[in-house]
Order: sequence, then C-alpha cells, then structure tokens
Amino acid sequence: MSITSAPTLDSYQRAAIIGGGVIGVSWAGLFLARGLDVVINDPRPDIEDLVRAGLEEITPALAALGLPTGNLTDRLGFEADLATAVAGTDVVQENGPERLELKQQIWRTVEQAAPAHALLATSTSSIPATAIADAMRQPERLIVGHPFNPPHLVPLVEVVPGTKTSPRTVQQAKDFYTALGKKPQVLRKEIPGFVANRLQSALFRECVNLVAQGVVTEQELDGIVTASIGMRWAVAGPFRTFHLGGGPGGLPHFIEHLGRAMETSMWPALGNPTFDEATTALLIDQARQAFGDGTIEELAAERDRAQIALMRALGETPDSGI
Ligand SMILES: NC(=O)c1ccc[n+]([C@@H]2O[C@H](COP(=O)([O-])OP(=O)(O)OC[C@H]3O[C@@H](n4cnc5c(N)ncnc54)[C@H](O)[C@@H]3O)[C@@H](O)[C@H]2O)c1
Repeated sequence: MSITSAPTLDSYQRAAIIGGGVIGVSWAGLFLARGLDVVINDPRPDIEDLVRAGLEEITPALAALGLPTGNLTDRLGFEADLATAVAGTDVVQENGPERLELKQQIWRTVEQAAPAHALLATSTSSIPATAIADAMRQPERLIVGHPFNPPHLVPLVEVVPGTKTSPRTVQQAKDFYTALGKKPQVLRKEIPGFVANRLQSALFRECVNLVAQGVVTEQELDGIVTASIGMRWAVAGPFRTFHLGGGPGGLPHFIEHLGRAMETSMWPALGNPTFDEATTALLIDQARQAFGDGTIEELAAERDRAQIALMRALGETPDSGI
C-alpha cells in the first residue's frame, strides 16, 4: 500500500515577492507567518514603509487564523535589483502591475536569475501564462497562481498552466499552495478572467443592472446576497445547490422543472448595463450613502473579522486543520 504524505513547506525557505502592493503585501504576510524568509522587490522609493504598514494592518487577521505572528518582520528583506532578489529563492510570487510587456520583462530576468528548482508563479488576474511565457526561454517553468483578494485570508488559489507549463510545475504549485494552507484549484483550460472572476463578473453585471433600474439600492442588494446566495454558496456551490433544489430527482429534475424556464425567460431578460456617466454617478452616490461612514481600513477589518468567523465555523482556518 502506498502512502502519499501531505505536501509540506520543508523545501521552501526563501520567497521572493515581486511587486509589494495590495496583493504582494498579503502574500508576504502569509509567507512570513508560515516561516519563510521573504524578500520584496518593488521600484517604489517608499516601498519599505508601505509594506511594513500593510503587514501591521493584516497581522490581526493572520493571528486570528491561528498563525504565529511574533517577530513577523524579522525575516523580511527588501532588494531593489530583481536578479539579486530572486537569486537563491525557492519560490517567486509576482504581483506587479497588470501589463503584459512589464510582466514579460520581469519574467525574462527572473528565469535567468532564479535557481532551477524555484517555483515561478504570477498572481495575474487576467493575463494567461501562455502570453507571459511567450517571452521566456523556459516557458515550462511559469504558472498562474491567482489568489482571491486578500490572499492571506481567502482559501482559493486558481492554478492555471499555460500551454507550455510542465506537469511538474503544476504539481509543484499545487503542493506549495496546499502546504501554505490554501485551496488550489487547477483549471483544465486557460480562459480570460479564469473562473472565480468570471463568476463575479456575471453576477456583478446583473447587480449593476438591478440598481441602475431602481429595483433595489446597493445596500438592499448587498443584504439580499449576504442573506441568501452568499451564505448558501459558502456551504454548497451552485451545482450542489440546484441538485438539492431538484428534490429527490436531483439536478436532472431541476433542469426539467426550473432550468428550462430559467433558460427561456430569465437568461434572455438579464441586463446588459454599461458604466455610462449616469449609471456611474448613481453607483458612486449610493456607495457613499451605504459605506461612507467607515474608512476602507475599518470596513476591511470588519469584513475580515466576519470572514474569519465564517471560515472557523466551516473548519476552513489553518488552526482547524487544513
Ligand atoms: N487587487 C486584487 O484584487 C487582485 C486579486 C488577484 C490578483 N491580482 C493581481 O495581482 C497583481 C498586483 O495587483 P495589485 O492589486 O497588488 O496591484 P498594486 O498596484 O497594488 O501593486 C503593484 C505593485 O507593483 C509595483 N511595481 C511596479 N513596477 C514594478 C516592477 N517593474 N517590478 C516590481 N514591482 C513593480 C508597484 O510599485 C506596486 O507596488 C496584478 O497582476 C493583479 O492582476 C490583483
């Protein structure tokens, strides 16, 4: 009988974070809390202050996840030269601006300077690995490791290989993110926006439509989502939900009974809004009324506290065994 052991971070001691903005700081916090040495590469002159402030902000969430946060920044370093930053690293997580040419330029340097064993992952939320790796000599080494914001908290990482990414790299990425306590999902095909953002986008289009049409306000719509599908989807995805919605007949009955009506009367009636001037003004005005009382930091902290409580209830935090 062969026993496959759970992936560990044993072979990961040093990580290079390229781009220390919103996503880079969040990955850095998680990597540090998981015991890795972290080097940040970012051309901003004030990057050190920004990263340290960002880490301070997310430390309570990391602690609430049950991760060790004492002396978090002892193993944090900064290196302005990209080749030096990735030399001797075990994993590179790139979080630079979402521009193809820039990412290609970064990866051309990284593949030459990083050790052959290093995992090379980009956080891009829309650019296929195939397009970035087009500029690389070793395209088999690059993979998309797309987190859901904030990466230190939300479990999902979409692992998206390009056409030339090797199976070894795919396995390496899966194992690394699993060992970090994330839930990696490998996509079977490259598609713009990957999966989670395509789903958000589909739903958000109808959200904008419903508010623009005056059916509900933003605040009312958010309340409807969190009290229904948001709560439901945290425990059962759309397919499982509709399988249950079909009663004893399951999904086949659901499709016959309600799915066909959805196809003929609901899908064609869904909105196709635009961010024209009037719609944008309406959305901004309602957002001010709904969320204007708190700063973004306060609202994010409140969201993170609730998110962690939910994750804990579902057994999804590192201290609950994933
Ligand atoms: N923000 C999100 O919700 C989100 C979610 C998932 C993935 N992503 C992806 O993560 C990446 C970063 O997004 P973000 O929201 O953190 O952006 P950001 O603007 O907050 O951070 C980008 C950072 O890259 C730095 N940078 C600029 N040029 C650089 C270079 N040549 N080398 C290294 N760093 C450089 C900038 O100074 C900045 O600090 C993007 O590819 C984005 O698509 C973002």
